[in-house]
Amino acid sequence: MGIPRYIGRFSGKDFLTTVDWERDELLDIIDAAQDLKRRFLSRVPTHHLAGRTLFMLFYNRSLRTRNSFEAGIYQLGGHAHFLNPNDLYTPTLPEDMVPYQTEAISDVARVLSRYGDAIAIRIYGDPAKWHIGRGHRIVEEFAKWATIPVLNMEDDIYHPFQALADMMAAIEIERGRIRGKKFVVSYAYSGGLKPLAVPQSEVLVAAKFGFDLTLAHPPGFELEDDVMARVREYADRYGGSFRVTNDMKEAFEGADFVYPKAWSPKGFFPPYNGEVDREGARAYQDKFKDWITTLELLDVTDKAFYMHCGPADRGQEVTDEVLDSYERSLYFEQAENRLHVQKAIMAMIMG
Ligand code: CP
Repeated sequence: MGIPRYIGRFSGKDFLTTVDWERDELLDIIDAAQDLKRRFLSRVPTHHLAGRTLFMLFYNRSLRTRNSFEAGIYQLGGHAHFLNPNDLYTPTLPEDMVPYQTEAISDVARVLSRYGDAIAIRIYGDPAKWHIGRGHRIVEEFAKWATIPVLNMEDDIYHPFQALADMMAAIEIERGRIRGKKFVVSYAYSGGLKPLAVPQSEVLVAAKFGFDLTLAHPPGFELEDDVMARVREYADRYGGSFRVTNDMKEAFEGADFVYPKAWSPKGFFPPYNGEVDREGARAYQDKFKDWITTLELLDVTDKAFYMHCGPADRGQEVTDEVLDSYERSLYFEQAENRLHVQKAIMAMIMG
């Protein structure tokens, strides 16, 4: 078996958000991921990145992202190097940097660029002080200075690998026939504080893939204005549709896919307010405990597939019955596809 043609296809390119990638390029990534998945399941070696190193800088915890990247680069013949910010001269933010206490992102990025082949970063929430957009600016700062590709493993605006793995799961289950399917991205209740990254990435990619897209959330849980404008533009350009509702049940009616996931109301976070108001955000979220996905609620759909990026908050976002016994749940397929999508992108940009 020869070297697949997709190896090195996008050599040197960053992967910070799907917004920077054309739809056909995203479809090519999913094609490559499906090829790598077949090879993985058949135990065919795929050591296309032998000797390559991925640096992974995690400011937040992770199950899926860390382990799928580590396993993925190993399966491609390379090496994952885990970096805990507490063990570095930790870069936080350009404006927060104090000489002699931290090392500039520009320096960290350029040093790591001399040692390896890509830098992957996760930063949102507390490490970015819940200041919306701050985590993404850090990722962009790394990308500006690094001379090797930078990968966004989730910031406070985007989670592009998750969104692409989710599209792959939807395409697989529908055997490619997703056009005209109703895809619902909905708020789901959680007592915890959660970033906007997943819902924003889902609506962006679902609109780009031509779904008839519905976004459902209570008042106060609006997504960022620029994301909403882009989704509307994509719906026009790619032949889908886009509507917003404040009614979860109405959104679910006739749905083919439902993606109910918690996020927090941005009005309690800077820059919309001075400091993060954790108690205020939680108290506001607690008004919407009935935004939970149950088997009964799924009855109003058109036998929809249930989707969630994980980790799901059982008893808050979703009932145990849905996660454990709903036959049309894609929860584990989505997690599985993280491995294959990430391998595809690494193979395409690090090869
Ligand atoms: N969905 C996701 O990114 O999961 P982890 O937080 O476990 O990495």
